[in-house]
Amino acid sequence: MSLPPFSHDVNTQYTESPNASWSFGQKVDTTAAGKEWLEGEKEGWKIIDTEKEDHIKLYQLMISGIVPRPIAFIATISEDGIENLAPFSWFNMVTHNPPIISFACSNGPVHFKDTRTNVTNGLGFTVNIISEPFIEQANSTSIDAPPSFDEWSISGLTKEPAIHVKASRVKESAFSMECELHQAIDITQPTTGAITTTLILARVKYIHVRKDMLNERGNVDATKFKAVGRLGDISYARVGDAFRLPRPIWTQEEDKINGLLAATGHL
Ligand SMILES: Cc1cc2nc3c(=O)[nH]c(=O)nc-3n(C[C@H](O)[C@H](O)[C@H](O)COP(=O)(O)O)c2cc1C
Repeated sequence: MSLPPFSHDVNTQYTESPNASWSFGQKVDTTAAGKEWLEGEKEGWKIIDTEKEDHIKLYQLMISGIVPRPIAFIATISEDGIENLAPFSWFNMVTHNPPIISFACSNGPVHFKDTRTNVTNGLGFTVNIISEPFIEQANSTSIDAPPSFDEWSISGLTKEPAIHVKASRVKESAFSMECELHQAIDITQPTTGAITTTLILARVKYIHVRKDMLNERGNVDATKFKAVGRLGDISYARVGDAFRLPRPIWTQEEDKINGLLAATGHL
C-alpha cells in the first residue's frame, strides 16, 4: 500500500471540545457528528470470549482497541555493562505520590527480553518519551536482535549519562525519567502456567525535561512536545489538535444537575 508522505505542516493547536455547548444529560444523537457515530451501531456487535479466542488475534484486537497508548522508551544496562534500548507501549503513570510508572514486558517462551532482565538487576534504568523527529530511530530499537545486542548502536541516538542510575538517558528525548524498580509482578497464563508477561512498577527518581518544552506554568506544552503514541498493528499516532474541556466541579454545577434530575424524574 502506498501512503502519502508525512505532513510536517500539521501542528498541534488547542481548540474547543467537539461539542463545546454540551450540557448535562444531553444525548449523543443531538449533534450531527453524534448521530453519524451512532449510525454505525446498525451493523451490530461482535462479542469475543477471550478464553476461546486465539491469543495472537486477541493481541491484535486489544492493541488496536486500547489506543492511543503512550510509549516508554526504556534504556537499561546489564550486569556486564551492556546497554539496551527498546520501546514499550503497555505503559502508563500509576501515581505521582510517590511517582510510580508501569510498563509490561511480554516474555518469550525461552528467555526474557533484555529489558525485563535488566530492570530487575538493581542498576536502575531510564524511561524516555519519544517525539516525532526521532520516531524512526526509536522504532529501530524494537528489532528482534539476539539477546544482549545493544540497540543504541544502530539507532543513531545519543547516550547521555544519567545522574542517579547506571543506564544512559536518550539525549534527543525532551522528557526522561531516571527510575528504580519498585516491584516486578509476573503474570501467569492460567492453563499453561507459563509466565507470559511481567508488569514492572518503577519509582521515578529524577525527571529531565527540556526547558523549551515548558509552558508558563512549568508543564509540558503538547504543541511543542510532538509526543508519539502507539495504535494497533504497526501504526503510530501523533497528537493532533488538543481540545480543552474542564472537569466539572460539583459546587458549581449542583443546581443545574438537580434541575435536570427533577425535570427527568430522577429526583
Ligand atoms: C512502539 C512499540 C511498542 C512496544 N511495546 C511493547 C510492550 O509494551 N511490551 C513488550 O513486551 N514489547 C513491546 N514492544 C516490542 C519490544 O520493543 C521488542 O520486543 C524489543 O525487541 C524488546 O527489546 P529487548 O529484548 O532489548 O528488551 C513494542 C515495540 C514497539 C515498536
